[in-house]
Amino acid sequence: MKIEELDVDRCAFDVLQLNTPLVESIRETIRAQGPQSFAWFMQQALYHPEHGYYSSGRCAIGRKGDYFTNVSVGPLFGRLLASQFSEIWERLGKMNDFVIVEQGAHDGQFALDVLEFVQKRLPEFFDALRYRIIEPFPILEQQQRQRLEVFGDKVKWPDSPEPFTGVHFSNELLDAMPVRLISNGTEKVVGLEGDKFVFVERRVDKTIFNQAALESIDEIAANLQRGYVIAIDYGFLEFERNVQVRAQHRNLDSPFEQIGHADITMSVHWGSIVERAQANGLRVAGFTDQHHFLTGILSQVESGDGGQSLLADSRKAKRELQTLLHPEMLGRAFQVLALTKNVDPGASRLAGFKFAREPRFS
Ligand SMILES: C[S@@+](CC[C@H](N)C(=O)[O-])C[C@H]1O[C@@H](n2cnc3c(N)ncnc32)[C@H](O)[C@@H]1O
Repeated sequence: MKIEELDVDRCAFDVLQLNTPLVESIRETIRAQGPQSFAWFMQQALYHPEHGYYSSGRCAIGRKGDYFTNVSVGPLFGRLLASQFSEIWERLGKMNDFVIVEQGAHDGQFALDVLEFVQKRLPEFFDALRYRIIEPFPILEQQQRQRLEVFGDKVKWPDSPEPFTGVHFSNELLDAMPVRLISNGTEKVVGLEGDKFVFVERRVDKTIFNQAALESIDEIAANLQRGYVIAIDYGFLEFERNVQVRAQHRNLDSPFEQIGHADITMSVHWGSIVERAQANGLRVAGFTDQHHFLTGILSQVESGDGGQSLLADSRKAKRELQTLLHPEMLGRAFQVLALTKNVDPGASRLAGFKFAREPRFS
């Protein structure tokens, strides 16, 4: 749904039947303080300390959950990314204490897929590797700790982000960050008509709509000493902003449906992310769609691993690959941005960008 399509009538939602503590607390704030920005509403719906969709641990990803991500397709995604991380490690001189920082790690499945593959197939890299997860929500950290217990001290959860050399990785993190709904100088804010949530429009001057995502880029840039940032997400180069509300594999018509029980995301505006990264001294090392990115990695793996193909005789892996690559499945919907800091600007492209065109950001 484009912002303009989020009209008052269509999105007005009678939440009497969903009289949860979360809905009540959102209503109370609006009654006391007047209409609130959509960023504030999204923060409550997804990240309210007790009742938010993510922070409560209620979010379920995959076939039996609310939506699919690359990670939920199967282990192939993590294995391909592990190969890309290994190339980065080689590029940085095969250093000891190479750190992968993952943010938005959900239940730890991606970390597990990466670490299992590296341990089995890339033992030298495994010895040098440290895995760090930035996780603000205790219930998710608990799930990650359980899933990754077998790796002991290799995986740690720092209390706050720390300086590191290596790679910062995220899959669908930026699109889950709170945004304001601003289009053509008008902002849609969340108000109440009786007990119904409605959008109220107000004029705004030039204002940043994705403050949280930009601040997360500041934080990553401040902590990365040398290495790469790889962010995978669905978004646009042009200024097209779509809000998506998903529950049980259905797209809902309004963010006011199933508050705290549905995922809310906004397509990422890559141009503003890149601009902020460059202002922080990061350099763009590649940008392409997921189809080209994963095809590049796969072709490198297939040509270099002495015939130990990632897909060897596995029908399941081939199906996973098709889902990840197919333009009508996940291949074109997702894009991959790579940024670098203190890496030789003349360094050749990473495998993932072998087939990419030169990016143009607006
Ligand atoms: C759409 S899910 C993606 C999960 C996982 N990466 C995957 O691909 O299956 C977004 C995740 O980002 C997390 N998240 C949101 N803001 C975050 C932040 N500031 N730091 C770390 N995680 C965050 C949410 O809790 C949620 O687990």
